[in-house]
Amino acid sequence: MLLLGIETSCDDTATALVRDGRDVLASVSTNQDAFHAKYGGIVPEIASRQHVALLSAAIEDALDRARVPMEALDGIAVTYGPGLIGSLVVGVASAKALAFALAKPLYAVNHLHGHIFAAFLDRPETPPYPFLALLVSGGHSQLVEVHSATDMRVIGRTRDDAAGEAYDKTARLLGLGYPGGPAIDRLAHGGNPRAFAFPRHRPDKGTLDLSFSGLKTSVRYFLESQAGRDAQAADPQRFASDVAASFQAAVVDVLLARVNAAFERKDYRAIVLSGGVAANSALQAAFQSWSARRGVQAFVPPARYCTDNAAMIAAAAFYQREIARADPLTLGADPNLPFELAQPAESMR
Ligand code: KG4
Ligand code: ZN
Repeated sequence: MLLLGIETSCDDTATALVRDGRDVLASVSTNQDAFHAKYGGIVPEIASRQHVALLSAAIEDALDRARVPMEALDGIAVTYGPGLIGSLVVGVASAKALAFALAKPLYAVNHLHGHIFAAFLDRPETPPYPFLALLVSGGHSQLVEVHSATDMRVIGRTRDDAAGEAYDKTARLLGLGYPGGPAIDRLAHGGNPRAFAFPRHRPDKGTLDLSFSGLKTSVRYFLESQAGRDAQAADPQRFASDVAASFQAAVVDVLLARVNAAFERKDYRAIVLSGGVAANSALQAAFQSWSARRGVQAFVPPARYCTDNAAMIAAAAFYQREIARADPLTLGADPNLPFELAQPAESMR
């Protein structure tokens, strides 16, 4: 089953061709960072205009790279929420038009489910059910119990900032560009993760919820208190690297502790890491060693499938195809689409 995936929920214009939810024949992502960088974050209006300008070429590009004619497609998979409304509608409208014109099935995918299925791409074995997914992106941070492709339950979520948001805001405090995650990741490489003790905040015992706003605030107070003082003044570069590494260590500790707590409650058969923050090198390393110690199978997608991409959307559509079928005439974008599975056609009307 060969699906074309289309993903435009935020600021990446992405298309992909995926066979049977696993073999990626092409994955194209046109990054818009250059258009948003000077504003320090994503400007929704610019994002949707860029999708309009880039999407048709990105679809052709994916087909060309895979050397597949449009007629060979078995369907079109598209992200219909959650995300920026102006961005989502561009992808949804294109997918509907294509599905209608080609008379092929249309599949509507929840962006967050897509992130989970990134772990199914390009590898010989798929994660065994039930597994635990740690989904950490720019907009969401949650722990999901995955019993099957269509039975997924959120068992913990952030009470304030998402992990990626904490990275982006901390990067701004350090004067790094947008997106902040990759910049902090790079800067932290030369730093000492134990240089500064930032708080590891865990909302009340007994829940698996997360919280990152306290960490971000404590980095801000710390930077204000250190401005111009010895450590900062003597070697600003080294100081920034130490702050980045110490901040990152706190994020990793909090996430590991939550996953560990979830595994104390239940024996999952695997752990899946997904979402943009899962591209983080320190997080990946920490999870690989945690899972080896614990004897748990870990599925960590390569960085290109952790951040937003369309291959994961095509994969999710393949596994959820029974319930993801949508009507090319009536499907609409849903910026606040809840995580729980819904029949796309019904949730639209
Ligand atoms: O999943 P994603 O591409 O988009 C959303 O659905 O939000 O995640 C983007 C987030 C941004 O906050 C970005 O700073 C973060 O993922 N990110 C990283 C890394 N690469 C991207 N955070 C930490 N380390 C990275 N290497
Ligand atoms: Zn995402």
